[in-house]
Amino acid sequence: MTSALLPTYARAPIAFERGEGAWLVARDGRRYLDFGAGIAVNALGHAHPHLVEALTSQAQKLWHTSNLFEIPEGERLGQRLVDATFADVAFFANSGAEANEAAIKMARKYHAAGGHPERFRIVTFEGAFHGRTLATIAAGGQQKYIDGFGPKVDGFDQVPFGDREALLAAIGPETAALMIEPIQGEGGIRTVPPEMLRDLRALCDEHGLLLVMDEVQTGVGRTGRLFAHEWSGVTPDIMSAAKGIGGGFPLGVCLATAEAARGMTAGSHGTTFGGNPLAMAVGNAVLDVVLADGFLDHVLRMGLLLKQQLASVMDRHPGIISEIRGTALILGLKLDVLNTTFTAAARDEHLLVIPAGDNVVRLLPPLIITESDVAEAVKRIDATAGRLEAQMRGAAE
Ligand SMILES: Cc1ncc(COP(=O)(O)O)c(C=O)c1O
Repeated sequence: MTSALLPTYARAPIAFERGEGAWLVARDGRRYLDFGAGIAVNALGHAHPHLVEALTSQAQKLWHTSNLFEIPEGERLGQRLVDATFADVAFFANSGAEANEAAIKMARKYHAAGGHPERFRIVTFEGAFHGRTLATIAAGGQQKYIDGFGPKVDGFDQVPFGDREALLAAIGPETAALMIEPIQGEGGIRTVPPEMLRDLRALCDEHGLLLVMDEVQTGVGRTGRLFAHEWSGVTPDIMSAAKGIGGGFPLGVCLATAEAARGMTAGSHGTTFGGNPLAMAVGNAVLDVVLADGFLDHVLRMGLLLKQQLASVMDRHPGIISEIRGTALILGLKLDVLNTTFTAAARDEHLLVIPAGDNVVRLLPPLIITESDVAEAVKRIDATAGRLEAQMRGAAE
């Protein structure tokens, strides 16, 4: 089919018409179990009644006023995020990349405000993904996203994941911050060990650097804690979140301590749409559910169940799945077959999963999944692996 859209995406040939919880219904009526959640976005599944109510009732009152005026629902959401985290202040944006842009600018401005504008460099880690703006592709350091777009934005030094020597060598008099995802999502569900996060915190304290965490994919309950870094006991100075925080409505946030945000004075940063009344209404509604008693325990229970059942699928299909990675409801299957082949075969079983780097497929279901959704997903993953084994046998004959 010819399309008027810029061909930057390799889209699967399915269009969905509506969703209900963890299920999506295609235009031809076929139902798919959604274990991708729009790449970790639909944290509460599709058409969650509380979110629908929040969005539609706000839509009847007021959509947008700009940040030239006070936005009470934004004040409320900011305060709730501050109360629930390490942070003292919040800046709302519309996406993960924009939340990271705010984080990067804030880290640089912190040093400028302290009399050290030369400290603007940020150390990042191989396998990272921080977004697709010019600064965030430089931060992510993946050549395939950088090539052809002119000079790479200066100020990002990348070190191999887990290589302490390289990290120490990269920290110099111009270094402002370290920036890391507690679990690399696009990079293939690679968890940063808690002791490494603690070491990064100590290095930051020793060298006067800010620790920036990108929780765009890992945040808002996905690991069974509100934010993934909480598992390590380490707190960042600056953190970005997006995806799940809007439950499907475009929303990002940069959270920071007052100290880290000291340079961000009136007029130093801004956005037209960020934090608008629609986004704030939905953001507050998402938090109502995620912060309710027992919700994160539910995420942990479903995550454990899923991981246990996947372990027996892996045992049954040794030539297909070689490793299970991740925490709670951000899981990765490291594969011996091509991850895009697996994703397409899973789609034939009416299960949606998402490829990632390192030949992994990600399972990022809505956090509201039930035991029967878990059982159904496991059955379909088992069938997908069986289907691929049969294809491999057929090709060998
Ligand atoms: C860890 C991380 N950071 C940043 C981003 C970019 O977010 P967005 O696509 O909303 O700009 C993503 C998106 O996948 C991500 O996973």
